[in-house]
Amino acid sequence: MQNRFFFFPLEKTNHKIECGTVWLALTARGAPVIVTHRCRPGGRPAGFLPAPLHSSPAQGFPMKVFLHVGCGASRQDQTTRGFNTPEWRELRLDIDKSGAPDIIGSMTDMPAVADQSVDAIFSSHNVEHLAPHEVPLALAEFRRVLKPDGFAVITCPDLQAICALVAQDTLHEPIYSTVKKPITALDVLYGFRVAMAEGGSFMAHRCGFTQSVMVHTLRQAGFAMAATKRRGEPMYDLWALAAMRPFSGDEMQSLVSVHFPIQGEANLWSWPAA
Ligand SMILES: C[S@@+](CC[C@H](N)C(=O)[O-])C[C@H]1O[C@@H](n2cnc3c(N)ncnc32)[C@H](O)[C@@H]1O
Repeated sequence: MQNRFFFFPLEKTNHKIECGTVWLALTARGAPVIVTHRCRPGGRPAGFLPAPLHSSPAQGFPMKVFLHVGCGASRQDQTTRGFNTPEWRELRLDIDKSGAPDIIGSMTDMPAVADQSVDAIFSSHNVEHLAPHEVPLALAEFRRVLKPDGFAVITCPDLQAICALVAQDTLHEPIYSTVKKPITALDVLYGFRVAMAEGGSFMAHRCGFTQSVMVHTLRQAGFAMAATKRRGEPMYDLWALAAMRPFSGDEMQSLVSVHFPIQGEANLWSWPAA
């Protein structure tokens, strides 16, 4: 079938380059999109490959793509030190269109992102917004779209740390501030009340993670190994890096050193292949 160029509808496309048998669109924000043969002229694409498969730094394109799920208004420079480099290109996905994501949709079902098309995933304060039964669906989608040597960086509230504040009965006291309002432990437990009051129903928290719950969940999802670290006061968050294939301890610690905001070695978790 003849491949046809399709202007990706969520972006103003400012360049197009023919690349072999597929067409490559460079969106206004610079995210390369390879349109697949599944596009119909004038119709919606059934899917696309965000990975710049035909690119190289010499051509001016980055080599690696990370899918930024549940991005909200955050962009590449607000992710991790490791992702905030010219080597990485960001593809933003959120269920809420207000943060102008590249893809609008739920992380539990991402048909717009092709199998094995991204090198990494960054998920910051999203997984706790899912109902417990949706978490395995989201992690299965993460694994489907990751390349075989890819990895996911996931951060979320550390329920164990927050529960220490529950035990002290200090849930209502501010623990840190944002541009909108101070955040209390109650917001971390149930969702940011200011955003929910403004109609942000996606901001409710519907499940929670401790370090061991996270590791168990990643193992059950089929990841090969994981690294975790708890940040403690005042952020009270948990960081996890889940790998698609077994990495050496040094490889894991080296990824952790650029993707976790916490200094020092992470806890490494591995298990026999399923
Ligand atoms: C607390 S905000 C975090 C935003 C950003 N990642 C950050 O760390 O600043 C949670 C985000 O997750 C998004 N979200 C909630 N449920 C989602 C889902 N099922 N799929 C994709 N995004 C979702 C919300 O719309 C919101 O943008």
